[in-house]
Amino acid sequence: MSLRDRKIVVTGGPTREWIDPVRYISNPSSGKMGAALADAAAPLARETVFIHGPVSPVLVQGKPYRCVSVSTTRDMLDAVLGEMEDQAVLIMAAAPADYRPAETLTEKMKKGGDEITLHLVKNPDILMEVAERRKGGAWNDLFVAGFAAETTDTESYAMEKLVKKNLDMICLNDVSAAGAGFAGDTNIITIFTRVGSRIELPVQAKGSAAARIIDCIMEAL
Ligand code: PMT
Repeated sequence: MSLRDRKIVVTGGPTREWIDPVRYISNPSSGKMGAALADAAAPLARETVFIHGPVSPVLVQGKPYRCVSVSTTRDMLDAVLGEMEDQAVLIMAAAPADYRPAETLTEKMKKGGDEITLHLVKNPDILMEVAERRKGGAWNDLFVAGFAAETTDTESYAMEKLVKKNLDMICLNDVSAAGAGFAGDTNIITIFTRVGSRIELPVQAKGSAAARIIDCIMEAL
């Protein structure tokens, strides 16, 4: 079955975990990598959906595919699960927050002592949730690609995520390398597949890296 017959769901951008109405925990993901993947997939797929955290409107306005805006990691999980179907392709380029405040205050926290302690609890891991449902027999012939944003022991952590999250493919970016990772217009990626392929994408525009990743997915399908 080619991409033309499949729905592609791409995630991008950060999520926000609110401490109070004016403060949140997040990360510097801009959504550029996810938007580039959705742009590259759209002309080739039956349907493309871009599920994104808070990103610049420029990345989502006037697109020829559906853009779904979410705020928290739990919102993103619900949106992803709601879009899954048999033969879908899921590409998780988002940087969902791994932890959230145990409690979100309804009123702005007042400045007090010199130190405060924030109690955080673990968020669900979206790819792990998908993997568990997949193991339980959901979504026949689903293809799942993850990203790994690493700074040390990059390859071993990426391979660990490929196996642990039951992925078909993982795109490793060393986010400490110049020209790679968060917010910039370029990336440097190594793609690893479940069947043992390794493809190096040297520094290039996120649009060009996205097109190569979509090519690799088409070859793998
Ligand atoms: O948005 P840009 O500014 O263009 O930056 C692009 C990027 C650096 C964010 C992107 O290339 C990237 O690496 N995205 C993954 C970021 C990340 O969360 O990496 P991770 O190694 O912590 O997570 C591994 C995988 O699990 C990722 O596919 C992630 O989307 C997914 N994940 C993470 C946390 C979580 N709670 N649920 C998840 O499914």
